Amino acid sequence: MFSRRAFLKALSFLGLVIAYPYPLRRVWGQAVKVGTVALPLDKLQSPWDSVPFTFGSGNIPGLAVRLPDSRLTVVSRLCPHQKCFTDLIKDPAQVFRETTFEPAGPVLVCPCHGSVFDLQEDGKVLFGPAARAPDRFQFQIGGDKVAITGLRESH
Ligand code: FES
Repeated sequence: MFSRRAFLKALSFLGLVIAYPYPLRRVWGQAVKVGTVALPLDKLQSPWDSVPFTFGSGNIPGLAVRLPDSRLTVVSRLCPHQKCFTDLIKDPAQVFRETTFEPAGPVLVCPCHGSVFDLQEDGKVLFGPAARAPDRFQFQIGGDKVAITGLRESH
C-alpha cells in the first residue's frame, strides 16, 4: 500500500509530466504556424525603430526592426538557448554592462545568460551560449501595414 507521502510524491511528479509539455506545445506546436498580425509601417521608418507583437494562439513574442540599410527584419524574441525573452538594446555600453561583450551597434540581447544576436546578420550569435540565431517571422508589406504571416525556425 502507498503511504500518504509516496502518494503525494507520485501526484506531484504526475503534475510535472502533464504541465511541462504544455508551454512547449504552445511554442512549438501547430499554433505557431497560423494567424496573421498587422503592424503599422509608420512606426518602423527610422533605423532601429522597433515594434513588439505577439503572434498566433501560442502568443509567440516577436519584434519587427528597421535596419540601417532600410531592410526590415522580424524575429522571435524567444532566445534559442532556453527561451527567455530577448530585448533590442541600442547602446553598446549597456550591452557590455549586461553581458561583458561590446558590440559595434544595436543588438538583440538575452538577459538570462547574456547571448547577443546581430540583427543585421540574420540574428547571428555574437556572444553567449545560444547555439543558433532566433527564429524569424515571415512577413509581407502591404499599404501602411506589415503583415506577419508565419514563423520560420532557424537552424
Ligand atoms: S536563455 Fe538566452 S542566453 Fe540562455
